[in-house]
Amino acid sequence: MQTLRLGLIGSGFMGRSHALAAHAVGLVFPQPVALVCELLADCEPGQAALQAQNLGFRRSTGDWRALVADPQVDIVDICTPNHLHYPMARAALEAGKHVYCEKPLALAVGQSRELASLAGARDCVTLVGFNYARNPVITLAAELIQCGELGRIHHVRGTHVEDYLADAFKPGGWRTRRAQAGLGALGDLCHVLSLTQRLVGEPTEVCADFQTVVSERPDGPVENEDQVHALLRFTGGATGTIECSRMAWGRKNGLTLEVSGSAGTLYFDQERQNELWLYRSDERGPEGFRRILLGPDQPDYAAFCPAPGHGLGFNDLKVIELRDLLAAVAGTAPAWPDFAAAARIDAVTDAMARSHRRGGWVGVSDPAAGGAGGNSQE
Ligand SMILES: NC(=O)c1ccc[n+]([C@@H]2O[C@H](COP(=O)([O-])OP(=O)(O)OC[C@H]3O[C@@H](n4cnc5c(N)ncnc54)[C@H](O)[C@@H]3O)[C@@H](O)[C@H]2O)c1
Repeated sequence: MQTLRLGLIGSGFMGRSHALAAHAVGLVFPQPVALVCELLADCEPGQAALQAQNLGFRRSTGDWRALVADPQVDIVDICTPNHLHYPMARAALEAGKHVYCEKPLALAVGQSRELASLAGARDCVTLVGFNYARNPVITLAAELIQCGELGRIHHVRGTHVEDYLADAFKPGGWRTRRAQAGLGALGDLCHVLSLTQRLVGEPTEVCADFQTVVSERPDGPVENEDQVHALLRFTGGATGTIECSRMAWGRKNGLTLEVSGSAGTLYFDQERQNELWLYRSDERGPEGFRRILLGPDQPDYAAFCPAPGHGLGFNDLKVIELRDLLAAVAGTAPAWPDFAAAARIDAVTDAMARSHRRGGWVGVSDPAAGGAGGNSQE
């Protein structure tokens, strides 16, 4: 069996989730490869050593460049604030490593596209952490759409609304600084676009409005948007809306998607991540939507649990994500969303930012867009 050695950079919220997945993936899914938690990097050697011990890594370093250059690392896993994704991913690809990176891929769509073409040229496997798109409920939704259960898709309604900055007196941290985060609520909550990419296809045009609700926080000015409302037109003719907010009191993970077609509607809500709601026009009746509860007939659920309705959680989606990365490295399945697919998501958020600045509709693949500055706000 091939052994792959993981180098994790960053050990905060996501670093811990990736470490949990790295330890679980071989137990949950039969693997063509064995994964070893080899090296952990964080800002400073003491912190890195402590976190390597806590998260079960063999070695540690306070220098991410040493991790990227380490011959004992095969996969570089980037779980740092957004502005570090581009230099870290670029250095890792130049060193010939496979790269697993948190979203958003980069601060500017030009950087994302550069990383995608570098990965292609070096023949490195890449994957971006759009974990919600791997929920077995979303896999089921994709199967239902593909086999025509909804008919011709005409409408999409997506939200990703949370309340992590609803308190105006809470410090914003790196997420409110343009140099470190790029976009605000939209960049952080762009997961909803990975769901539409998987289920509906690519948006071609967008019209968006951004708002910064709280302009000053205890740790300084807020430099990016708190909420976004956008209209979208998709290839294939569907139209829809996307809303993102980090100031929606009461919403903890309000990632929802509703897709309507000529024969029915599907509805998903991440706060109830084990349920899919279906309404079929040929079953029309006063009872409304039918609830489909996840069970072992979905293989990615069965791998965790033999009993229906017992439920998966947030971290389980990272295990599925890592399984997909390892399969791609082993050559048994393509990686999605790889850097090229993630660059298309960054192109949509970039187009939304341009639409907000200019007013009105803009094309996602506008050739004038996507250079330096890309999806950071003016
Ligand atoms: N996929 C998801 O569901 C999800 C959820 C939350 C965050 N994220 C993404 O994950 C990334 C990290 O977010 P987080 O919430 O884990 O942040 P965090 O602040 O909790 O953790 C960031 C980590 O990076 C480390 N770090 C910072 N600079 C570093 C450097 N120069 N060298 C090495 N380590 C460094 C920090 O010390 C910390 O351990 C972000 O890009 C964010 O958008 C994804």
